[in-house]
Amino acid sequence: MSAAVENIVNRLNELAAKAQEKLISKMNLEEVESLRVEWLGKKGLLTEIMKGVGQLSATERPVVGQKANAVRDGIAQSLDQTLAKLREEKILQQLETEKIDVSLPGRRGHFPYAHPVQIAQDELVSILERSGFLTEVGPEIEHEFYNFDALNIPPQHPSRALQDTFYVKGHEGVVLRTHTSPVQIRTLLALKPPIRMCCPGRVFRSDYDATHSPMFHQIEGLLVDQGVTMADLKGILTTLISEFFGQALKVRLRPSFFPFTEPSAEVDMECCFCKGKGCSTCKGSGWIEIGGSGMVDPEVFKAVGYDTEIYSGFAFGMGIDRMAMLRFGISDLRAFYESDLRFISQFARLRP
Ligand code: DAH
Repeated sequence: MSAAVENIVNRLNELAAKAQEKLISKMNLEEVESLRVEWLGKKGLLTEIMKGVGQLSATERPVVGQKANAVRDGIAQSLDQTLAKLREEKILQQLETEKIDVSLPGRRGHFPYAHPVQIAQDELVSILERSGFLTEVGPEIEHEFYNFDALNIPPQHPSRALQDTFYVKGHEGVVLRTHTSPVQIRTLLALKPPIRMCCPGRVFRSDYDATHSPMFHQIEGLLVDQGVTMADLKGILTTLISEFFGQALKVRLRPSFFPFTEPSAEVDMECCFCKGKGCSTCKGSGWIEIGGSGMVDPEVFKAVGYDTEIYSGFAFGMGIDRMAMLRFGISDLRAFYESDLRFISQFARLRP
């Protein structure tokens, strides 16, 4: 071994010994980290020692290189072990001193009111729950299969056009759901009849004016069993509307078309302001349109593998924002989404 090699190896051994010795003493996490920089950092001792390698012969270099790697790995391992030990000690100490009183009441956020749309949604769900409907949730970012195809909405349908539907860039076939109806499909696939479910949630469409927002809320209802009729549908809707508005209100089913129901019907409710006499809200007609409904289309049952000879069902979907506007007498939908705390606090229901 040449004198130059010997010199470097000796210095490496010294560094290794010094590190072992130093790491036994009591230190905090920051001190250990700064030692790592001092010993192994770019401008640290190891780098300094290895500067001498340039003068060695080609046969000597790998020998010293191997030695240096071993020293570096040994020191790094000791540093890691020391750090791990210190971290554990710190946690144990915190557990000792920072006791949490789990019996204390939780802290409210600094703004204690529920949003009026949330109030409406909670009430609609609770009315349906009392009629035996389970509450389901589905993803807001949805696959076209659930949002359109399985609901019998064909590829050329206008609602699938770019100007109505938000497509997720870079993910083919993925959309922001345009309605809560895809949750019908998810539920039909996940459960077996008899099924009674409702699903409230956010939906998205490319729209913005006094009565349309790009994000709004719907509640979906679905009942599947044997021998279901439109009378069942009308009964549930009448209960839902009357309980929500706190007065007996009639419901009218008006023939319409939806790809996923047959027959389909618009749901109108008796105007809650004039009780059917005609006023400015119902534009003199006495009726207010609040959603769509119908008997589950056989094509939908086929898409999810249900026997249409055995099962029948009804479905409905309505806008929660609209229901909240009617209930609280709000004329511009945009007020819901301007985050004006003076507006929201008027509805004075504390958050649970
Ligand atoms: N999904 C429809 C929409 O957003 C509303 C709807 C109509 C839902 C009829 C239903 C239904 O469940 O049966 O316009």
